[in-house]
Amino acid sequence: MTDYTLLNKQLEALVAGQKNVTGMLANAAALLHQTTGWFWVGFYMVCGDELQLGPFQGPVACYRIGFGRGVCGTAWQRQESIVVPDVEEFPGHIACSSLSRSEIVVPIFHRSQVRGVLDIDSTEKGTFTEADREGLEEFCAILSAAIFGAEEQ
Ligand code: SME
Repeated sequence: MTDYTLLNKQLEALVAGQKNVTGMLANAAALLHQTTGWFWVGFYMVCGDELQLGPFQGPVACYRIGFGRGVCGTAWQRQESIVVPDVEEFPGHIACSSLSRSEIVVPIFHRSQVRGVLDIDSTEKGTFTEADREGLEEFCAILSAAIFGAEEQ
């Protein structure tokens, strides 16, 4: 079980005072990947009418995901986190790796708009819990304040 109180404190320390958006996303992915060992941890950011691949840790991944497509594009469309216990049961799931079995996608909001998503894949079914959703939503809120605050300075 992930200690989100500790993890989110570590993230706050990692991004405090930084202005390098790509660097912060890369370090956030690295922190989460190193802490949890999850198979794929990374970001897709909104660019116009699609999501584009951002910093990540794990195997190579697809570059672009349309609005409403896959788990990531559906989380963007619904404007809410999606926990997928078994990717084979999610219609339209985009398989970047055949080893992925379960997934969680958490939107990154800024001023009530989805600006990107955190996407995490596991090689086991049913990995992600309600506690993960809550902890990762806080993780994304910390990151959003840091990256969009940095852009506005
Ligand atoms: N499974 C995702 C695609 C991205 S990869 O998992 C890295 C989806 O269905 O949106």
